[in-house]
Amino acid sequence: MIFFLILASLVFIDYARAADLNNSFQNPPKYKWAGCENLGKCKLDGFAKPTLLILSFDGFAKEYLERKIVKSLELIAECGVRADTVYPSFPSKTFPNHYTMVTGLYPESHGITDNNVFDPKISPDLLAMRKSEAEKYYEGEAIWSAYKRLTGRPAHCLFWVGCYFNNTGYKPDISPDYNQELPLQERINTLISWLKLPAEDRPGLITAYLHQPDAAGHKQKDIDEALEDVNRYIDALMENLYDEGLLECMNLVIVSDHGMQVLNKTIEVEDYVDMKGLVLSKGVVARIHLNGTDKTIDEVTDEIRCKVDGIKVNTVKDIPVRKHYSKSTRVGDLIIEGKAGTTFYKSATDGGDHGNDYYNENMHTVMFARGPSFRKNVKAPPFQNVQYMNLWLSLLGLEGAVKNNGTIGFFDSILKNPPIRENNWNSMEECPTFGSADVLPCNERPSNVWKKLSTHLNSCPSIRNLPLYSTDHCFQSNCDTVLMVHKKEDSRRAVIETLSRSSSSKKSRSSDGNFSYINTKYSSECPIFKGNQTFFTAGFEEINKLASAQYEFPERFLKNIFLPLSIKTEEYLNRFGTLFVISGLSADSNLDGISDIQVSENPTHFYRIIITCTGSWLSKNPPLCKKYDEMKVLAFVFPILDGKSTMDCMVSKVVALRKTKRKLQSSDEVLLDYTSTIEDVERMAGIQFQIGALSHQQNVWLRRNITTSLW
Ligand SMILES: *[C@@H]1O[C@H](CO)[C@@H](O)[C@H](O)[C@H]1NC(C)=O
Ligand SMILES: *[C@@H]1O[C@H](CO)[C@@H](O)[C@H](O)[C@H]1NC(C)=O
Ligand SMILES: *[C@@H]1O[C@H](CO)[C@@H](O)[C@H](O)[C@H]1NC(C)=O
Ligand SMILES: *[C@@H]1O[C@H](CO)[C@@H](O)[C@H](O)[C@H]1NC(C)=O
Ligand SMILES: *[C@@H]1O[C@H](CO)[C@@H](O)[C@H](O)[C@H]1NC(C)=O
Ligand SMILES: *[C@@H]1O[C@H](CO)[C@@H](O)[C@H](O)[C@H]1NC(C)=O
Ligand SMILES: *[C@@H]1O[C@H](CO)[C@@H](O)[C@H](O)[C@H]1NC(C)=O
Ligand SMILES: *[C@@H]1O[C@H](CO)[C@@H](O)[C@H](O)[C@H]1NC(C)=O
Ligand SMILES: [Zn+2]
Repeated sequence: MIFFLILASLVFIDYARAADLNNSFQNPPKYKWAGCENLGKCKLDGFAKPTLLILSFDGFAKEYLERKIVKSLELIAECGVRADTVYPSFPSKTFPNHYTMVTGLYPESHGITDNNVFDPKISPDLLAMRKSEAEKYYEGEAIWSAYKRLTGRPAHCLFWVGCYFNNTGYKPDISPDYNQELPLQERINTLISWLKLPAEDRPGLITAYLHQPDAAGHKQKDIDEALEDVNRYIDALMENLYDEGLLECMNLVIVSDHGMQVLNKTIEVEDYVDMKGLVLSKGVVARIHLNGTDKTIDEVTDEIRCKVDGIKVNTVKDIPVRKHYSKSTRVGDLIIEGKAGTTFYKSATDGGDHGNDYYNENMHTVMFARGPSFRKNVKAPPFQNVQYMNLWLSLLGLEGAVKNNGTIGFFDSILKNPPIRENNWNSMEECPTFGSADVLPCNERPSNVWKKLSTHLNSCPSIRNLPLYSTDHCFQSNCDTVLMVHKKEDSRRAVIETLSRSSSSKKSRSSDGNFSYINTKYSSECPIFKGNQTFFTAGFEEINKLASAQYEFPERFLKNIFLPLSIKTEEYLNRFGTLFVISGLSADSNLDGISDIQVSENPTHFYRIIITCTGSWLSKNPPLCKKYDEMKVLAFVFPILDGKSTMDCMVSKVVALRKTKRKLQSSDEVLLDYTSTIEDVERMAGIQFQIGALSHQQNVWLRRNITTSLW
């Protein structure tokens, strides 16, 4: 029977008894192993391929580094790598994130959606993932399994989520039962003894886990002491490795699953929702599953949505795509989050806990690495922990061997000998042409407008290098504005625009009437104008109002999203002068974050990517700044919903301020929540984004950049 006493948040009140390590170290750390003189000079035989040791310290908040206690980490970073920031996956709980770190999958894809999971197909109970019966919940393939399967070499594990199971048929060769009381020195002795095995038995991969400083963080007591323990543990481990000559023969990566938030508020879901026929999973994130109730999801949601200050009630339909928490029924029907400090767990207010959105800075965590495969004294840009799997694979010589949710090449800049990579996509093709390139006004308009259009289109630059790639789409250029068209459906999917402040000054939002124009190069029919709020373009000038880029959005979408987004885009335009904007529609009806294969007439999501330069531009299309550092990207994915949603109760300043006729402001709360990465947009839209003039690495960083605040 596996005995993960502490890991589940459900038991976190009980562990005072077991929380302290049986620490047999007496002496202060000596850092005997510090220094980089012998970096990578392995003198032992049989280590041609360095062993990979992945070490996790539970709940090591990024903030803990500021306490300057864990000096060992600083010394490791001097000869290796430190991460700027690591974002956990949602929810930032121990089991989902430990399993994410070894699979590269979002929790919705590896099945461990929380520390406690309800899946009536497997069990009628809400089951703790630390239990041995939980094996069936573990999906995807962990690194130890991939390593064993592909190389036939041994992998050992000293306490890691999922290690105890043989769900893929490749369980770690050695994986002792969880024993939290195992003294630090004995843990180290175990690791060293594994590394000293004869070559054929020696593991090429070791995963190891320590429950501190999480336990102290939950109690909000003796955190500094726990950090001192962690420091002594690392120092002693490093010293032992050094003494055995192993230190330079292995790649060591130190990771953690999440940070820690001080609690100051409890909300009981039961006070608002009648729990009959429902299953409630409590914690910093509360989740409700319908389980035999007569009520619909909407009815249950109505009992609590917009009824309690400071909480957000999502369903899988309106939870932001960036959280990747919608495609599995195991996430629940309602996902309830509070402001920082809130827990839905009764009688738990004088400690700390985690689980929050990774937007909460207190959830941010750390990564340090050292070894022959790493460069010296480098920093990895911020990343989310789904990226790890590709790092493990490439350190073990198995790059690309297991599909996951990270992006290959993300860590090239921290590796000594990364493969040479090229940008490998061509840009999109132009749609087949029809007829001439005349401009036709579709309704009566003053001739000066007609003339202006003609002149404008005649002076258009040719579009050579759109930053988008897709074989399903082609583009139609209308000068500053380019339409992305789905080839099979012949429907307009996206508008690509370069906006400049000068053009926006001529905007006329209300008085456009029926104006639209067509470019007969692509189409000879006059499009039907559907109304002044149907365009999904970000352009404000008449010339950008392409009648074919229309879609009739539901009222609520216009009010909660489209209007605030338009105003925000305009604010940015005024601030930065020039914006490169892609706006489009996509269909993802099964909510897996990936564009439906079957093209649908009814889009489910609307997206926008905004790019600008804080310095000067090198080219406007493709967007390119003189300096890479001066490039800014922002991406959004919004669900297009007709009915009530959580956005109805999020701050909607636009409406409030409109009534009083003051200056319009946008609703940042909604906009921020629905940001995403460019890569999220790529998957949703079935396109790929790449700027040819940037390096492969820069493109990957741009596409995976996580926004944590609006500009
Ligand atoms: C701590 O570990 C030592 C050595 O394994 C053991 O003898 C001792 O009983 C342990 N102490 C506690 C309090 O568990
Ligand atoms: C879900 O419903 C089934 C059938 O009524 C019941 O046996 C089970 O205990 C319920 N699960 C939970 C966690 O309440
Ligand atoms: C795991 O499963 C595989 C395939 O079913 C089996 O060959 C192997 O012996 C199992 N390993 C353990 C440790 O049970
Ligand atoms: C709880 O703490 C959070 C985060 O520190 C703070 O923003 C919030 O105002 C606090 N709430 C209460 C009720 O004290
Ligand atoms: C994550 O990766 C898994 C495995 O390749 C895949 O099935 C899933 O669709 C991916 N999710 C996203 C959002 O790309
Ligand atoms: C859109 O048109 C309607 C009716 O034609 C009008 O009442 C409304 O003010 C217009 N809205 C905007 C933002 O121009
Ligand atoms: C727009 O066109 C429709 C149909 O062609 C017409 O009924 C309507 O009066 C027009 N509106 C304006 C403001 O021109
Ligand atoms: C990436 O995101 C961070 C945090 O939101 C931001 O500071 C940075 O400017 C972004 N980088 C780009 C290229 O947009
Ligand atoms: Zn944890």
